[in-house]
Amino acid sequence: MNEKSSAAPLKSLDEWEEDVLRRYPDPDSIAKEKTVDEYRNYEAPVRDTVKEFYRLNHTHQTFDFVQQKRNEFLSFSKAQMTVWDAFEFLNQLVDDSDPDTDLSQLQHLLQTSESIRADGHPDWMVLTGLMHDMGKVLCLFGEPQWAVVGDTFPVGCAYSNKVVYPEFFQQNPDYANPTFSTQLGVYEKGCGLRNVTMSWGHDEYVYQMLKDYIPEEGLYMLRYHSFYAWHREGAYDYLLDSHDRDMLKWVQLFNPYDLYSKNPTPPNWNELKPYYESLVKKYLPAELKF
Ligand SMILES: [Fe+2]
Ligand SMILES: [Fe+2]
Repeated sequence: MNEKSSAAPLKSLDEWEEDVLRRYPDPDSIAKEKTVDEYRNYEAPVRDTVKEFYRLNHTHQTFDFVQQKRNEFLSFSKAQMTVWDAFEFLNQLVDDSDPDTDLSQLQHLLQTSESIRADGHPDWMVLTGLMHDMGKVLCLFGEPQWAVVGDTFPVGCAYSNKVVYPEFFQQNPDYANPTFSTQLGVYEKGCGLRNVTMSWGHDEYVYQMLKDYIPEEGLYMLRYHSFYAWHREGAYDYLLDSHDRDMLKWVQLFNPYDLYSKNPTPPNWNELKPYYESLVKKYLPAELKF
């Protein structure tokens, strides 16, 4: 496999999200009896690109890799942009996908935030919807797809078989490391997710970027929106504390807006702009650091 395809097995980042939708086809599909295996057999077979993407993700997201990425990106010394410039920057991501069928990143963000707004939720949640995928700019900083998107999971402890494609974790060096391979690994029982290091990607990055500006419930939505093994499958209960259990309902409230708000009709940005300008002004600083 050449360097280009191992950095980018997916035709576009949307391919990962389309696969999430295949696994969770409706808002009530929060697993109660079904196993991840059954989801995997749902409808069309998984595309090889998606499978390869997960193989790379599960193989390379080690505890050390995550620490390295946190050091590299959480000092936010790469760039400084207004939110609007950041959307324009993020929209460059559409270039490698099919422009006829795929909405731009901003359009996905607006559809998410607009469906939250239409249901009368608080304005900070609308803002959370608008911003939740901003972390995908990591791809534009040269990061491989498997370090930007994909279901997230705790590192530093045993992997749950509720994470999609658990068999690929056998190729992760941490899998056989005695420090990381017990159920709790480096953590204490009930330590709370705030003390747990998650696999690296756009969720943690955008959470860290916005953690001073958005209410706690919104921060959980940002930080854990791709942690399907938790919010859809109920895994990793032994790492949670009572605050996480309290916040779970907010993450679950958010998820359908992310997954099911896609619509082929793009929102009218010019009409919406004044509302979003004042919303952004209310909560966020003039420039964001990347
Ligand atoms: Fe996302
Ligand atoms: Fe999203």
